[in-house]
Amino acid sequence: MLDWSEPTSPASQLPLPQGAADATGLGAIDRKGGRVTVDEKRMINARADVNQLLPLKYKWAWEKYLAGCNNHWMPTEVSMQADIALWKSRDGLTEDERRMLKRNLGFFAASESLVANNIVLAIYRHLTNPECRQYLLRQAFEEAVHTHTFQYIVESLGLDEGELFNMYREVPSITDKAAWALKHTQHLDDPDFKTGTPDADQAFLRDLVAFYVIFEGMWFYTGFAQILSLGRRNKMVGIAEQYQYILRDESIHLNFGIDVINQIRHENPHLWTLTFQADLQRMIREAAELEAAYGRDTMPRGFLGLNAVSCEQYMRFIANRRCAQLGLMPVFPDVENPFPWMSEAMDLKKEKNFFETRVIEYQNGGALSWD
Ligand SMILES: [Fe+2]
Ligand SMILES: [Fe+2]
Repeated sequence: MLDWSEPTSPASQLPLPQGAADATGLGAIDRKGGRVTVDEKRMINARADVNQLLPLKYKWAWEKYLAGCNNHWMPTEVSMQADIALWKSRDGLTEDERRMLKRNLGFFAASESLVANNIVLAIYRHLTNPECRQYLLRQAFEEAVHTHTFQYIVESLGLDEGELFNMYREVPSITDKAAWALKHTQHLDDPDFKTGTPDADQAFLRDLVAFYVIFEGMWFYTGFAQILSLGRRNKMVGIAEQYQYILRDESIHLNFGIDVINQIRHENPHLWTLTFQADLQRMIREAAELEAAYGRDTMPRGFLGLNAVSCEQYMRFIANRRCAQLGLMPVFPDVENPFPWMSEAMDLKKEKNFFETRVIEYQNGGALSWD
């Protein structure tokens, strides 16, 4: 146990949840405390020292950290030559395709930063488990790689950077989504916010649902479908390839978020009330409606293989899947997946050797000889 009678630094003088150790890991060191046992480790409000990774309790978090490292990639490894030629050609893309592409890039460009800021400034502070934090650090870097991707695309195609990076403020269908998600993280950013009461713990869970399940797990997926549908028709293949890499990363982010939420729920069953479940279902339903509005705005006419109606259906299908992953009842009546090809797009093992080569190179890079 920590000895609170020792002199403390200003940071550790902040009031703590009853019985919990310092959640940040930056408080005074407890010189007399016992060693950490697995039983003391918790997702939130932990008593165990958050600075000690071992002994591991949540192996799923460690495994996701390893999987993320094995998936390392950089956007600059993807050739943009074909995309540049197509973007600059007069009739390679229709006006509708250009509109969708630009708005899609604009949505992702700022969203990657919103997600990264939420991880680093809100979630990291309150998730009191070192193996989960280890994954969050990896995820934060991956979000930086994703933001880099949009910088690289803007630079390669010669797009208007101001137009793209301001879309989250200037295009209402994009702003509405960002504002909705931010609503759930703003109070966590308050320095006085801390977990440890049912209200605060539920607020933290809502933030996890808003960002992991909805932002990354729902909105990103329709965004991927839009671009991968172009790629399937051999258009903007460089961007489509980058989106496949992003999708591979995001599917781990999503699964990590689902595991975190379910583990918190398992350890704190009192938080998972019927009212709270209904609240989460309402959030998921609202998010699907915001996405439908974004679909109508980005694809007012639609084009080969993709339109606002099929995107809305896909969103509803995904919404029901996310509900099932959280143990919630579906929020939409039976919905078929209109894009069955998306599951193939997610399976990069079927891709060309390029992917294999990169993975091997990075793994070799991790085993340098110091002779
Ligand atoms: Fe991302
Ligand atoms: Fe992500």
